[in-house]
Amino acid sequence: MQVAETIKSVRELVKAARDRGKKIGFVPTMGALHVGHISLIEAAVKQCDFVVVSIFVNPTQFCPGEDFEKYPRPVDADLEICRESGVDVVFTPTTQQMYGKNNLTWVIVEKLTESLCGKFRPGHFRGVTTVCAKLFNIVAPDVAYFGQKDAQQAIVIKKMVADLNMPLQVVICPSVRHQDGLAVSSRNQYLTEQQRKDATLIYKALQKCQEMIDSGATDTKSVIAEMHQILNKPPAINIEYASIVDAETLQPVDPIDGKIFVALAVKIGNTRLIDNILLDVKK
Ligand code: PAJ
Repeated sequence: MQVAETIKSVRELVKAARDRGKKIGFVPTMGALHVGHISLIEAAVKQCDFVVVSIFVNPTQFCPGEDFEKYPRPVDADLEICRESGVDVVFTPTTQQMYGKNNLTWVIVEKLTESLCGKFRPGHFRGVTTVCAKLFNIVAPDVAYFGQKDAQQAIVIKKMVADLNMPLQVVICPSVRHQDGLAVSSRNQYLTEQQRKDATLIYKALQKCQEMIDSGATDTKSVIAEMHQILNKPPAINIEYASIVDAETLQPVDPIDGKIFVALAVKIGNTRLIDNILLDVKK
């Protein structure tokens, strides 16, 4: 495995692999790698011949007051995970490499970024799409891997790739969960023991929602009310949104029908956690 710290070196390594006829897979990350990231890497290793992972805590996708400074950066452990998982190149650029002194070009996907997390994290998706566009231009992969865990991000990236005619395929991999259902996330490590227990209610609320829909519930308001009921119990949980949206447009649906996301964002103390389930409801 090689570690490329510059754009020039990662480009050279990928070009050499492409010249040997290799199919290039790419997994963009912000590091603090866990089993969720590893599942994307495993999919890339399985489906491609040469796998690049980027580790870059992208400052432009953090809003003022968010956790950019304290975001975990366990570089050595991350490199070890990549090595063990069969990654060929880890790209670890500096902010200077990625943005230079005077970045004036931004990629904005309209509409899809205005609902759900977009409402609560102004500018977040502009940072995500810009950095992913840059990374796609630098790495030039055939396939890029994203997690369902960040459903809105995955849909926004797919739309950007389609609208800008980027020559790559986007693959979305299922959410990886702890045994008690909590979606694995780099931010879970911020939680105290009690908060970690409370956090299990997130998936419980989603499962309850799925049960109701499976048994025929179509009224959005009553299903959302049930999720609030479950999540309102511990005083430490603050719901940012609990929404049922169309899986393509991310607009609220009522009645519940077709391909939908049930999406949740909560704050437990200062820690913001998101989760979702994708359902195909046939009435
Ligand atoms: P990060 O939070 O590090 O996540 C990198 C990728 O791992 C994303 O596609 C995310 O959806 C996926 N992922 C995280 N937890 C997962 C889980 N439990 N199961 C499955 N996949 C999971 O998302 C970002 O970084 C950044 O926004 C990035 C795309 C790298 C741009 O900076």
